[in-house]
Amino acid sequence: MTEITQITLRRPDDWHVHFRDDDMLSSVVPATVAEFARAIVMPNLVPPVTTVAGAEAYRDRINAAVPKGLEFKPLMTAYLTDQTSADELRQGFAAGVFAAVKLYPQGATTNSTSGVSDIANVMSVLETMQEIGMPLLIHGEVTDPDIDIFDREAVFIERVLTPLIAKLPGLKVVFEHVTTKEAVDFVLGGDVKTLAATITAHHLVINRSDLFKGGIRPHLYCLPIAKRELHRQALRAAATSGDARFFLGTDTAPHGAHLKESACGCAGVYSAPVAMPVYTQAFEDEGALDRLEAFASLNGPTFYGLPVNDAKITMTRQDWTVPETIMTGEGVALKPFMAGEILAWQLKAL
Ligand code: NCD
Ligand code: ZN
Ligand code: ZN
Repeated sequence: MTEITQITLRRPDDWHVHFRDDDMLSSVVPATVAEFARAIVMPNLVPPVTTVAGAEAYRDRINAAVPKGLEFKPLMTAYLTDQTSADELRQGFAAGVFAAVKLYPQGATTNSTSGVSDIANVMSVLETMQEIGMPLLIHGEVTDPDIDIFDREAVFIERVLTPLIAKLPGLKVVFEHVTTKEAVDFVLGGDVKTLAATITAHHLVINRSDLFKGGIRPHLYCLPIAKRELHRQALRAAATSGDARFFLGTDTAPHGAHLKESACGCAGVYSAPVAMPVYTQAFEDEGALDRLEAFASLNGPTFYGLPVNDAKITMTRQDWTVPETIMTGEGVALKPFMAGEILAWQLKAL
């Protein structure tokens, strides 16, 4: 059998990114734009993006960071709080400013202190979203400190997601960055029109033992935390199955290396510089290169009701070494996922 040396697919989209702001924003946007035509931009800035005007201003700052000559469309999201007004969402969605709403359980992850303290507080807002067809993107982990960190996603399904979907069966929900077999099975048991999930590149590659391989690995620490190997296998099976409910969302989440290499390091993996090469390798390892396009370029737009991209990209088999460090414009060091490793796939320059 001859080895495949290149693969061409419709230009993919990234359905889950963190661009941050200011120097970090201008430093990280090009890596996403090089690979993806569109991205769902998470609103967890400090303070968060909660208004239509705030989202428009943030969108303009993102567009200003897109390298000249490249096509890119940021899809903006609203950060759901206990105080969010249904009117603000309705207005932003109708105007095409908000593509979706993001729910962070208060305290669950990075910059989630303004998040929702109890889902009961936002039920009427969620009813409006169901009515207008506006997707709800969920960081699905309970915050109960009595629940073990490795169980927080599975318990969220029982305590929050199952009752929510029973109450609002027409609400479009994306279960973001799923990390467990329980989440995969839950999504497969749902309605393809209203329930989907994103899967990151890093969760296809690492399991929880990798966090401690030879010592503690702060650059692999993210939330939800990587789980046991059986869960990684379930995620690989789901992503490469071609099932329309699973699509690409890197959750690229840059933090200065000094904030991660710390007594209390923050959560987030910076994966944008290696995203498509890592996904392509995972699909090749699973014998599923023919299903990469569905996962990366087709399933996401179908769920969101958007057209697929006309442009194409080509991934070529070409070894390259991931840089150990990437500096922002103002000299903050970022450690990308797979830093120092040799990857076998590369994006062919446009
Ligand atoms: C994300 C971040 O840094 O903003 N961190 C992470 O570990 N995934 C937040 C998030 O997506 O939960
Ligand atoms: Zn999250
Ligand atoms: Zn995220």
